[in-house]
Amino acid sequence: MTTQTKKGSFTGSIGFVLAAAGSAVGLGNLWRFPTLASKYGGGLFLIVYLLLVLTFGFSLLITDITIGRKTGKSSLDAFKHVNSKWGFLGKLTVIVPCIIITYYVVIGGWILKYIVSSFFEFTAAADPTGGYFNSFITSKVSPIFWMLVFLAITAFVVYCGVEKGIERFSKFVMPALFVLILGIAVFVLFTKNKETGVTGLKGFVHYIKPDFNDLKTDGKFDISLLMQLILDAMSQLFFSLSVAMGIMITYGSYVKKDVDLSKSVKQIEIFDTLVAFLAGMMVVPAVYTFGLEDGIAKGGPGVIFVVLPQVFEKMGFAGRIIAPLFFIMVAFAALTSSVSIMEAIVGSGTDTFKNTGRKKVSLIVAVVSAIAAVIVCLGYNVLSFGVTLPTGATNQNLLDVLDYTSNNLLMPVVSLLTCIVIGWVVKPKWIIEEIETENHKFTRKTIYTVMIKYVAPVIMVLLILQSLGAFRLIFK
Ligand code: PHE
Repeated sequence: MTTQTKKGSFTGSIGFVLAAAGSAVGLGNLWRFPTLASKYGGGLFLIVYLLLVLTFGFSLLITDITIGRKTGKSSLDAFKHVNSKWGFLGKLTVIVPCIIITYYVVIGGWILKYIVSSFFEFTAAADPTGGYFNSFITSKVSPIFWMLVFLAITAFVVYCGVEKGIERFSKFVMPALFVLILGIAVFVLFTKNKETGVTGLKGFVHYIKPDFNDLKTDGKFDISLLMQLILDAMSQLFFSLSVAMGIMITYGSYVKKDVDLSKSVKQIEIFDTLVAFLAGMMVVPAVYTFGLEDGIAKGGPGVIFVVLPQVFEKMGFAGRIIAPLFFIMVAFAALTSSVSIMEAIVGSGTDTFKNTGRKKVSLIVAVVSAIAAVIVCLGYNVLSFGVTLPTGATNQNLLDVLDYTSNNLLMPVVSLLTCIVIGWVVKPKWIIEEIETENHKFTRKTIYTVMIKYVAPVIMVLLILQSLGAFRLIFK
């Protein structure tokens, strides 16, 4: 296939799984998941998330990847090949990574800053009030500087091309990161708050055990809280699996026909979810054990940056080694993801402007992203307006607003339209045939069909309504 030779294809199934996992595992798992899990106190959020991953996650991920492989195109052109009237969906899809990149690199920059802090300001960073983190993100120069460093590295990797750039990184970083997170999560289990006697183990139970009191307002069950929890879990799923934004379509277009898609998707999904679960396990029990709920804004972006340095401090000398190691690994994981985000934009760019070289497109994308990301950084000081979202969340910064727009609004819309075109226009058989080429088995075929045709579209509509604040109006 010409596009495949142009872009280069993955060397076999392992190469593909690792690269896709490299895109999937990133700040979504390590920063966003713990943030949301701690916003809801753990348990319930965890269960809802797991249920969604097993049902929707699988269906959406395999749809994206299969569209890519079957058409051999990046997302912009892929939908045109699915059905000539649905080309617009490709354009809509590309908007999502364009939004995400602008704030992803900002948080990537925060991670870089924390690598340095863990060497030189180890104790200062472990500030239980969150003051250290807040004064950093609200300062004018430092966040912009670190964002630019992170963006420059991302752009450099993209500039060098898919295969060389991504595959090499993912192979080493993912397993190492996994071991490190597991170690930290286990350490948290054995910590103890000397004043209150609360142990990490108790915090862990709190993390995994659903508590329905979390859904009550003034002692009464509040359905809008439940809807919000589901919406947050769903948006997390999109973000974490990199679905509904064209990225997995682009990746799918590099996959050879002999790869068993159903099996690969399962592997990607399990790995991504496991990393998120462990990342939550590092953070949520620690928040609970040390009574940090008051020090951090619930669900604010600072959770891991405020909690983890304190965990590292409690490790004593070992913490001084583990802390920088941890943030370095996270930076790598974030990098493989940001590379994939930029790759999706550049891929679509080169498909649109066929006469402009890939390198030139990469540079243009990098510069435009940098300008936008500077504005996002300024959202914490000169451009801080404290917006209220339709979901009811108050005092939101530019970064939160962008996150809301891409994850709570656009992704459900893209996903709904994808379900319609696959489920009703070309029919699920279009996907199933591709998965079953070369005699591969697709065991969840029936569930898949029901999901794509009926369940997913209905839930998506509910989610869009929730994002727009409809339920808050009805139930209040
Ligand atoms: N899935 C990645 C993560 O969890 C983030 C990402 C978002 C990657 C969008 C690609 C596209 O961090």
